[in-house]
Amino acid sequence: MSRVALVTGGSRGIGAAIAIALKAAGYKVAANYAGNDEAAAAFTAETGIPAFKWSVADYAACKAGVAQVEAALGPVEVLVNNAGITRDAMFHKMTPAQWKEVIDTNLTGLFNMTHQVWTGMRDRKFGRVISISSINGQKGQAGQANYSAAKAGDLGFTKALAQEGARAGITVNAICPGYIATEMVKAIDEKVLNERIIPQIPVGRLGEPEEIARAVVFLAADEAGFITGSTLTANGGQFFV
Ligand code: CAA
Repeated sequence: MSRVALVTGGSRGIGAAIAIALKAAGYKVAANYAGNDEAAAAFTAETGIPAFKWSVADYAACKAGVAQVEAALGPVEVLVNNAGITRDAMFHKMTPAQWKEVIDTNLTGLFNMTHQVWTGMRDRKFGRVISISSINGQKGQAGQANYSAAKAGDLGFTKALAQEGARAGITVNAICPGYIATEMVKAIDEKVLNERIIPQIPVGRLGEPEEIARAVVFLAADEAGFITGSTLTANGGQFFV
């Protein structure tokens, strides 16, 4: 029986690559998305992976959305918390709304989503929770006090929950991508990207979404049961913990 995987923010960018890679590895996959209907419809048409719309920042919507996914595919055994946003601004210009939106999605979103599947995973004595944090949660990034705080929080969440899930066969891990060639990174001012960021990446290029997806497939496997509470970095050598 193939296992069921749910990828948040799964219709674009890193999330789409993860959903596609999990499907190729034999999982029954559902993608969640929050806003872009057109991209989600194109993704489903191309991949055959169903996409379900709700915001991970909304607890009640997560509850209803996960129930919908489980009715369609079966209990979620692998949850990939990938959905994330940026609202970059130097701190003196950052608004309370920019702070809150990023924390609500990138940090509270992990609570909102994982809470929906946790009891089922405990009951079935198997689960994989894989959260996509960021290099900027590890090293901090000027212009991203909100994002860096949320992504660092994701690592604390992962380490705490790994301890709780261990006896129930649930592993909880995080991946910290560096700068990956997605719309999020391409939205950075070209001058900032080319002059300040890429020169800091020893491999000399942005990463590809597929280079993150393969790490997710690795951690999702039944054979990965001894790996929990870990942070896997994939950043082209830009930062070592
Ligand atoms: N460290 C210290 N100071 C810095 C700095 C840095 N890294 N970057 C910029 N500054 C300084 C600038 O030199 C400038 O100083 P002066 O005014 O004295 O010249 C000042 O801060 C303002 O800089 P900007 O002109 O760039 O300010 P802005 O308001 O136009 O833009 C910004 C601010 C939007 C944050 C812009 O700097 C930016 O986009 N930076 C990149 C942030 C970043 O890396 N985001 C990652 C997005 S991708 C992602 O998040 C995915 C992931 O997980 C990796």
